[in-house]
Amino acid sequence: MQAHDVILVTGGSGMVGGQLAAQLRADGFTQVLTPTRGQLDLSDAQSVERWFAKHRPRYAFLLAAQVGGIAANVADPVGFLENNLLLAVHALNACQRHGVEKLLMLGSTCIYPRDCPQPIREEALLSGPLEPTNEAYALSKIAALRLAQAYRQQYGLRCVLPMPCNIYGTGDHFDLQRSHVLSALVKRFVDAVEARAERLTLWGTGTPRREFMHVDDVVAGMRFLFDRLDDGQIINLGTGVDLTIAELAERVAEAAGFHGTIDWDPTHPDGTPRKCSDPSRLRALGFQPRVDLDSGIRRTVAEYRRLQTQ
Ligand SMILES: NC(=O)c1ccc[n+]([C@@H]2O[C@H](COP(=O)([O-])OP(=O)(O)OC[C@H]3O[C@@H](n4cnc5c(N)ncnc54)[C@H](OP(=O)(O)O)[C@@H]3O)[C@@H](O)[C@H]2O)c1
Repeated sequence: MQAHDVILVTGGSGMVGGQLAAQLRADGFTQVLTPTRGQLDLSDAQSVERWFAKHRPRYAFLLAAQVGGIAANVADPVGFLENNLLLAVHALNACQRHGVEKLLMLGSTCIYPRDCPQPIREEALLSGPLEPTNEAYALSKIAALRLAQAYRQQYGLRCVLPMPCNIYGTGDHFDLQRSHVLSALVKRFVDAVEARAERLTLWGTGTPRREFMHVDDVVAGMRFLFDRLDDGQIINLGTGVDLTIAELAERVAEAAGFHGTIDWDPTHPDGTPRKCSDPSRLRALGFQPRVDLDSGIRRTVAEYRRLQTQ
């Protein structure tokens, strides 16, 4: 990419898109476009056509999606499936017709079967049934990546398809309807400390294992892959290190200064028992994440506290 190329980042008001755009601009890219949903509504074919015809991006990072944790997925499967399908169809079709030279589209490790061998290799895709609590989201992501691969095969559209694990960090949501597990825990523990609570009840059993990557590493990994790949093969973007939700809760509690008792409410669903990606392919290319989980958690606690005082 050259400094003056027009680069589209969809989802620029979100966690990953916001950080990617900021870092590209800080590195001297002068035409990083982050249209708001009002300017480019990806669920609306006419809005997409108008925007692409006017701005003609050379490169595109397709990060917009309806995203959320188990509660949001269970409450709105239609929204997750329908919106994410529309977003992918419209964006990929416009990229092909308006001459985008190369694109990156983010998937998710949610695409892999619920009970596949761990750590999860890319080959596990479509080898078994999905986790029911986020099946709609996963199906939309699988359809999107298959569509990108079809555009690659049929029209030569160059694409990079990273599959990130759970992402956390700067710009994440803390409202409990939209937040993911790590940010939700940060909010719950910091709020509990402020309220001087002695007990805190968390959803589920605490036993599922999850893998987390700080958004700074996700952005660094996306840029690393964008410069090196265009084969349209999926590639895991993760740390390869997982821990139980109970262990994560203890580490967040420590960072927030919560010394009370944690209770678990097993009436709420746990989701997939284990989800840890195998990042061998990423490592073989030479990428290593830099943010260790404890320092990432401490930063997220500090960022949530700062937001509280604004
Ligand atoms: N967060 C994770 O743990 C995680 C893990 C794996 C993969 N991913 C993937 O990474 C990508 C970025 O996730 P994120 O956490 O940064 O998401 P996020 O913070 O929830 O941001 C989502 C973005 O998508 C935009 N968007 C949604 N619908 C749109 C539409 N119809 N038209 C235009 N923009 C629309 C939102 O715009 P508004 O501000 O207007 O709503 C927002 O900018 C997503 O593709 C997600 O599936 C995320």
